[in-house]
Amino acid sequence: MAMEKLQAALDKARKTRSTPDHPPRLITSSGGGTGQPRPQDALWQALETFTVNPRDLETHRVVTHAASEAATPFDILRTKVLLQMRQQGWKRLAITSPMPQSGKTTTACNLALGLGRQRDLRAMLFDLDLRDPSVHDFFETTPPHSIGDLLTGDVDFAQQALRIGDNVAVSMSRGPVADPTRLLLAEQTAEVLDRIEADYAPDLMIFDLPSVLVNDDTRAFLKNADCALIVIRADATHYSQFNTCEREIAEQTNVLGVVLNAYRYGTNRKSA
Ligand SMILES: Nc1ncnc2c1ncn2[C@@H]1O[C@H](COP(=O)(O)OP(=O)(O)OP(=O)(O)O)[C@@H](O)[C@H]1O
Ligand SMILES: [Mg+2]
Repeated sequence: MAMEKLQAALDKARKTRSTPDHPPRLITSSGGGTGQPRPQDALWQALETFTVNPRDLETHRVVTHAASEAATPFDILRTKVLLQMRQQGWKRLAITSPMPQSGKTTTACNLALGLGRQRDLRAMLFDLDLRDPSVHDFFETTPPHSIGDLLTGDVDFAQQALRIGDNVAVSMSRGPVADPTRLLLAEQTAEVLDRIEADYAPDLMIFDLPSVLVNDDTRAFLKNADCALIVIRADATHYSQFNTCEREIAEQTNVLGVVLNAYRYGTNRKSA
């Protein structure tokens, strides 16, 4: 799409998001921060850990495991997201796009690992692209159970999620999950997420979602998020697709911002 149109769309999104019109969900627990041991510390510690080879991460364009020039745009995005969400008392961030292959999962994984470098924070990443999950591929790790079993209540977060470092928990799939729209819409899913938030008191929960314009999955889930980031590809997203997607998301949650992916000026950059 033409750069001017895109710029106008971004300016408009920026204006809209400064006036949140979706009331915050009831916050059921608080992180504390007194330096005293907190009940959730033991739960975090008990999560099974996994490690990822930095070279493997980089082949998937996940670059935020350590500070670097490549990580800087994502670090800026992380800090902006964090500050805006804190200001509003929001904990749950949905990541979506108008059409597939926009860089949603890349953005979600980079945000999660970038947050992991903030030692005083705890972050969670959920792979809710249930038809075509890919977070496990990005991290080259197969979880013992799929996120679908977590959402139906068949397994607990303690058994299903895996931890990277001390403070990032990742809930992944082993493969496509049956009946995704029903699962994303279910009251049970909302209850499971509320329980995880109450027990583990994460500072941020990131949901990697499918694209808005291909099926009903994201629409079904958005009521569970406090806000959403829309990832668009400068070289592929059409203005009308962005517009429709933004309108649909804004009907359900607060549009936190737009990530313009693959906007080239010299090298690949991301901008928030
Ligand atoms: N800035 C970029 N430049 C070039 N390639 C990129 C860029 N960002 C992501 N990619 C690549 O594009 C592909 C799609 O990225 P990603 O999986 O993050 O998108 P997605 O929106 O989550 O896709 P899907 O809709 O399939 O879930 C990946 O191979 C990724 O490495
Ligand atoms: Mg994806």
